Amino acid sequence: MARSPSTNSIPQPPRAAAAVSLLLLLAAASLPALATAAALADCQKSMVQQLTNTFENSQLNFAFDYCSDIGDGRGYTCGVVGFTTSTHDAYDVVNTYVNSGNYSLEFDPYIATLATLNVTGDASTKGLSGFCDAWYAAASNPTFRAVQIAKIDSLYYYPSQNISDTLQLTLPAARGQLYDAAIQHGVEADPDSMPSMVARVPRTPGMTDDAWLEAFLAERKRTLCHPSTPATQKAWCASVTRVNSYEHLTATGQSNFTDAFSPLDNDGKEITIKCDLNVWTNYIPGSKDQGGSGSGSGGMGKGAVIAIVLIVLIVAAVAGFLAYWRLTKGGWPWANQRFKRVIV
Ligand SMILES: *[C@@H]1O[C@H](CO)[C@@H](O)[C@H](O)[C@H]1NC(C)=O
Ligand SMILES: *[C@@H]1O[C@H](CO)[C@@H](O)[C@H](O)[C@H]1NC(C)=O
Ligand SMILES: *[C@@H]1O[C@H](CO)[C@@H](O)[C@H](O)[C@H]1NC(C)=O
Ligand SMILES: *[C@@H]1O[C@H](CO)[C@@H](O)[C@H](O)[C@H]1NC(C)=O
Repeated sequence: MARSPSTNSIPQPPRAAAAVSLLLLLAAASLPALATAAALADCQKSMVQQLTNTFENSQLNFAFDYCSDIGDGRGYTCGVVGFTTSTHDAYDVVNTYVNSGNYSLEFDPYIATLATLNVTGDASTKGLSGFCDAWYAAASNPTFRAVQIAKIDSLYYYPSQNISDTLQLTLPAARGQLYDAAIQHGVEADPDSMPSMVARVPRTPGMTDDAWLEAFLAERKRTLCHPSTPATQKAWCASVTRVNSYEHLTATGQSNFTDAFSPLDNDGKEITIKCDLNVWTNYIPGSKDQGGSGSGSGGMGKGAVIAIVLIVLIVAAVAGFLAYWRLTKGGWPWANQRFKRVIV
C-alpha cells in the first residue's frame, strides 16, 4: 500500500542529477531510522487497539472467541477483527494455526469446506455446522490467539503504520487513527478504503501533523456518511462517533498518547484507557451461545430485553382479563353474545 514519495521531476543536468540521486538514496536509507523513531511505542499501540476494540466490540480486550453469522453475505464472521469464511482471511487464520505445530484438531471437520470456500468465495455456511464451536474451543489455545494477533499486524497494523511513515506522521493520534481506519474501512483499493481516503487528503508542504489529522478526520466522516457502497451507508454513518472520539482526543490535548487517555466510546461517553501490555495475550472468554462476544458484559441487546418484557406483560394482561371474566361472569368471554358483537 505504501506509495513512493513523489520525486522532483524537473530535468537536471547530468552531474546535478547524479548528486540528486545520491541525496535521494541517502534520504531513502535514512527513512527506516525516521520511521522507527516515529513508531508507536508498545504502550501506545495497546491503547490504540483497546480503543478500536471499544468501537468494534464495546470492550477493551480482543474478542478472540467471537464467531457468528451476522447475515452480511460473508458467511461466518469470527475472531478479533471479524475474519470471514467467504473471504480469504478466516481460512488464512485457520490454516496458519493448523500448521503452527501446536494445533489441537478443532478444525479438522471444516478444513475441506473452508478450502473450497476460499476458492468459490461463497457466503454459504453449509458444511460448517459446528464451526463456531470449534472457533470458540480453539480460542482457549494461546497459539490460536497469537495467530490472530499476528494477522492483525500483517493485514492492518503494519500497512497502516507504513502509510504513516510515507506521510512522515509522528503524531501518535494520527498514526493511531490510520490503524482504526484500516480496521473499519479495510486496506484494499476500493474508494472507501483507508488508503483511498489518505489519497484524498494530500499532505502539502508545511502542513503540521495536527492539520493533516484534522483534514483526514473530516474526509473519513464524509466517506462514512457517503460511501461508494450504499449498503453500508446507514451503519457507517452511525459510526462517525468513533471519529468524534479522535476529535475529542485532539481537542482536549491528548494527541500524544501517554500512559492513559480519555477518548469517547460509541455512546459519546468519556472512558479511560490505560497502557496494557497484556492486551495481546489476555483472554477473557465470552459467552459461547451469543457468538462469544468476549466481554462478559455483552449479552442480550436492550431491544430484545424490552421486547421480552412487553410480551410477558401482554400475556399476563390477557390471562388476567380471562381469569377475571371467568370468575365474575362464568364461562369464557368468546361464549358471550355481547362480547362477540364487540369483537366481530
Ligand atoms: C486462499 O485463496 C487465496 C486467493 O486465491 C490464496 O492466495 C491463498 O493462498 C489461499 N489460502 C490458502 C491457505 O490456501
Ligand atoms: C499448545 O496447545 C495447548 C492446547 O492444546 C495449550 O494448552 C498450550 O498452552 C499451547 N502452547 C503454546 C505455546 O501456545
Ligand atoms: C511495511 O514496511 C516494512 C519495512 O519498513 C516492510 O517490511 C513491510 O513489508 C511493509 N508492510 C506492508 C504491508 O507494506
Ligand atoms: C506532543 O508532543 C510533541 C513532541 O514532543 C510536543 O511538541 C507537543 O506539544 C505535545 N502535544 C501535547 C498536546 O501534549
